[in-house]
Amino acid sequence: MKKLPHGQHTVALRLNGIERTAECEPRTLLSDFLRYRLGATGVHVGCEHGVCGACTVTIDGIAQRSCLTLAVTTEGRDVKTVESLATADKQLSALQASFRRHHALQCGFCTPGILMSCTDFLGRVPQPSETEVREMLSGHLCRCTGYTNIVTAILEAAAAPDVAVRPEGTVRPEGTFQKSDTRSDV
Ligand code: FES
Ligand code: FES
Repeated sequence: MKKLPHGQHTVALRLNGIERTAECEPRTLLSDFLRYRLGATGVHVGCEHGVCGACTVTIDGIAQRSCLTLAVTTEGRDVKTVESLATADKQLSALQASFRRHHALQCGFCTPGILMSCTDFLGRVPQPSETEVREMLSGHLCRCTGYTNIVTAILEAAAAPDVAVRPEGTVRPEGTFQKSDTRSDV
């Protein structure tokens, strides 16, 4: 990270596998940095208080609230947004396809954040129980679906052999999931 004379900083990070650099103020939130400086508009901003989970991205493989993260703290780190999930030839990942198949979204505002939490979660808990899925989802607010179809979609994706659900670098020992991992205090 480099401090510039006019109070801005340059922040260099790896976004969805590509090295990116842009300027921002020290106070700039990662959510704003991703959307307005780097064009990752799949990052949705709802509450801006760490409550709704819509802004969730992964940082070094861990799901985190981008609205509670200062962009300057991500210097040199690996950040992934929902745009990272589809394959290079624009095929949906198994997780995304399962969401579509089970109508696990309506307006879709909450969906990118949920998908990113799921990516982290399924990397650590490859075969979760329904209770574990619901616990993970407790870090996300969806005003449309009633959650039932989301749970069904996640459980089906977890049962699928498609490794696209578990991108490289997110695999951690089974059973290490903690409820707090998807909440605002991480
Ligand atoms: Fe709601 Fe970040 S925008 S948790
Ligand atoms: Fe509308 Fe979740 S699908 S908020």
